[in-house]
Amino acid sequence: MKQMSRANFGSKLGVILASAGSAVGLGNIWRFPFETGNHGGAAFILIYLGCVLFFGIPIMIAEFMIGRHSRTNTAGAYQILAPRTHWRWVGRMGVLAGFLILSYYSVVAGWTLEYICEAATNSFAGKSAQDFIASFNGFVGNPWRPVLWLIVFLLATHFIIVRGVEKGIEKSAKIMMPALFILLIVLGICSVTLPGAGEGLKFLLKPDFSKVNSNVLLSAMGQAFFSLSLGMGCLCTYASYFRNDTNLPRTALNVASIDTLVAILAGLIIFPAATSVNIPVDSGPSLLFITLPNVFLKAFGDVPMIAVILSVMFYVLLALAALTSTISLHEVVTAYLHEEFSMSRKKAAWLVTAGCTILGIFCSLSLGVGKDYTIFGLTLFDLFDFVTAKIMLPAGGFFIALFMGWYVDKKIVYDEISNRGTLKASTYRLLLFLLKYVAPIGIGLVFLNELGLFF
Ligand code: PHE
Repeated sequence: MKQMSRANFGSKLGVILASAGSAVGLGNIWRFPFETGNHGGAAFILIYLGCVLFFGIPIMIAEFMIGRHSRTNTAGAYQILAPRTHWRWVGRMGVLAGFLILSYYSVVAGWTLEYICEAATNSFAGKSAQDFIASFNGFVGNPWRPVLWLIVFLLATHFIIVRGVEKGIEKSAKIMMPALFILLIVLGICSVTLPGAGEGLKFLLKPDFSKVNSNVLLSAMGQAFFSLSLGMGCLCTYASYFRNDTNLPRTALNVASIDTLVAILAGLIIFPAATSVNIPVDSGPSLLFITLPNVFLKAFGDVPMIAVILSVMFYVLLALAALTSTISLHEVVTAYLHEEFSMSRKKAAWLVTAGCTILGIFCSLSLGVGKDYTIFGLTLFDLFDFVTAKIMLPAGGFFIALFMGWYVDKKIVYDEISNRGTLKASTYRLLLFLLKYVAPIGIGLVFLNELGLFF
């Protein structure tokens, strides 16, 4: 295997921020609220939290161990830990999932750029909630504008990728994450104090278990994997750049906590605001984009200057959060092509960018001019989302848990979790139990349940 000199993340904070930068993105701020809205609110969130705790954190530690031990891309990692076995297909499936996610994720990331322009030109002023819905639909249905933004976004990702890991990823995450966090808190406070916010809060906090069905379980599990960037080797690829003294369980816990906190904060902004202006909570992928302008308008409409500054800041930070995620997705596929096919990094990156642009254009058009062309009743955009988040990522997680729990030599697991005996590995037994039994059986049951086997 090519053990070429590989980059490293510079500092401990850098490690956490870069991984959190991958995890925190549109998954938390755009996808989490609309999935919660579609699946009944608080009960969905509780199941989601269970998935993060019992599947997400252990599998994240497992990915960290695989990546740091092998110090190569995700597909190559399985060749090192399990040479000449079929385990390498887990890595390859991850690369494919990354490629598909990047294609449709960039479409939504492109929307954030359009909204930066809208916010900067103060075009929210004087509009009603109905106007926001109409202008979102008009924009997404337009065959050109979303495609243009998609290309701009993929090119931005591309150029950061070719500049290399430490310079690009670490630096952007260090500034962006804390800023995003503060702004989310400010917006959360504004939203919760809007008239009519109570209904939304109730939806978010009062579980109604009568709405829980197999679909809710699969969606909550898929959301956990998607939001934590798990099951496709993304964090595994990042961990291949970790230092030897990085505490893996602690890093996983930090990343999962930051990610979950941001998702809950996003919920606290979206639902009170939605009920306050009578936007249905189950509006689907448009929810964030049709709800948020109302918050800026209602809370700061009297002082247009502040409304403009805060809304521009928000969409810029959202775009940056999406960017740190698209970088991590792009990196998985680029590192794979570069290291496995001995292609130059630049050529590999161009291939990924070009491929994703083409697929992304089809995804984008499938929401507008092409919305009558469906596959299994889903548009291409929805199909990519369904297949990756609800099937490929949890399946990837299932195999990663089995791989580390049963296949890999326990000495490697112990060495990685304890940094070769230099840390007290008090969670070793618990981790093995979760990886061997809890995660695979749990994920397996949710899948079987979806096939209609239980209820
Ligand atoms: N976790 C990212 C988000 O929440 C999306 C992502 C999924 C990134 C899978 C990498 C891998 O936006």
